[in-house]
Amino acid sequence: MIMVQIAPSMLAADFLHLEKDVDLVNRNADIFHLDIMDGIFVPNISYGFPVVEAIARNAMKTLDAHLMIINPENYVERFAKAGVHMLSFHLNATENPSKVLQQIKACGMKAGLAINPDIPVKELFPYLDQCDYLLIMSVFAGFGGQKFIEDTYSRVAELRQEIQRQGLDCLIEVDGGVSASNSGKLIASGADILVAGSAVFKAEDPAGVISAMKTV
Ligand code: DX5
Ligand code: ZN
Repeated sequence: MIMVQIAPSMLAADFLHLEKDVDLVNRNADIFHLDIMDGIFVPNISYGFPVVEAIARNAMKTLDAHLMIINPENYVERFAKAGVHMLSFHLNATENPSKVLQQIKACGMKAGLAINPDIPVKELFPYLDQCDYLLIMSVFAGFGGQKFIEDTYSRVAELRQEIQRQGLDCLIEVDGGVSASNSGKLIASGADILVAGSAVFKAEDPAGVISAMKTV
């Protein structure tokens, strides 16, 4: 069995002292989660290539970019060139999700499909065999620091069951309001990767929080 992986969301990092927070992830966590927002798919704008490239130059762990942008197909190659290893986009952000999943893999990255809390999990089912991972939002995409939506446990369990039914080995990533208070139940429901922004970077002891989140 693979141990859960913790992916701190750099959206909650200290951008004036980014090196410090990159070091923290390098030392204590598994994956860098990079939230890319365009102000159109979500009502917020985050950061772009200069920041992704700066993190990539110093990262010793996997880079996971979560695209909250329309027409993600236009940027797939650019993220690969920037050094990203895992790339996800939202199911309803593009006309042809299968084509984008293929495009991501053709660029040598792991391909992920994301859904917001108001999209039924079963809408992912036709795409599972084309995905390396699925990103289940446990808040509505757009902002860090929101409250975890409790429905997520059953959504993760439903998805895990279908992945098993189809005989696949896709990973499940959960994103939004995740902390040491819900990590155990998420892992028990079938989550493999836990994204946490505020819970890690706003903590007094971020390394302690990361290790607490790994403890079931
Ligand atoms: C929200 C982002 C999340 C966010 C998580 O749209 O996708 O990755 O940064 O932040 P917290 O853990 O603070 O909810
Ligand atoms: Zn995210």
